[in-house]
Amino acid sequence: MSRVITFSFFLLMCFEAASAQEPVIGGPCQGCELVFAGMPIELKSSSRIASESEQGEPLNLRGTVYKADGTPASGIIVYAYQTNAKGVYPKGSTNHGRLRGWARTDVNGKYGFKTIRPKAYPGRDIPQHIHLHIIEPNKATYYIDDVTFSDDPLLTSEHRKKDNCRGGCGESQPTRDEQGVWQVRRDIILGEAIPGYE
Ligand SMILES: [Fe+2]
Repeated sequence: MSRVITFSFFLLMCFEAASAQEPVIGGPCQGCELVFAGMPIELKSSSRIASESEQGEPLNLRGTVYKADGTPASGIIVYAYQTNAKGVYPKGSTNHGRLRGWARTDVNGKYGFKTIRPKAYPGRDIPQHIHLHIIEPNKATYYIDDVTFSDDPLLTSEHRKKDNCRGGCGESQPTRDEQGVWQVRRDIILGEAIPGYE
């Protein structure tokens, strides 16, 4: 009997370990827990949000994740999701849609995503954006300010005033290279302006 109990306990511990998720901090957000849904076990520092065949203007998003003391943070998971070239979240396995991805920072704190430039929601005045969340392994997960684009006519001073600079400020200065690929930088500061972060 005790062997059965011991084995059952072992199974329970295995299940707990396999399903462990970092707690959500920093206030409520839409689908914060979805950052874990479908997350690959093996993560690289360079990843994709949109596949190569996705219609739209190609875009490279890159950045460095820093600790509060200014040193690079390795092993941090950056999760991203966005709209497509029509400004909608194409149907996927979660409410975050199909265009989503994960990257884990390298030893120098660097991460990158290949994707397309998102379009704004049709008929609304919300600027183009890429949603970003951070997963700090064995610590916490939280959303940070979206990547926005300084050349976006919808990005008004009113919107800029609402920028909380969670994880550092999200407004980027996009440039376009000779191949027509948008180059966008979003550096991240762990825990910056995140309520409840220790
Ligand atoms: Fe959105």
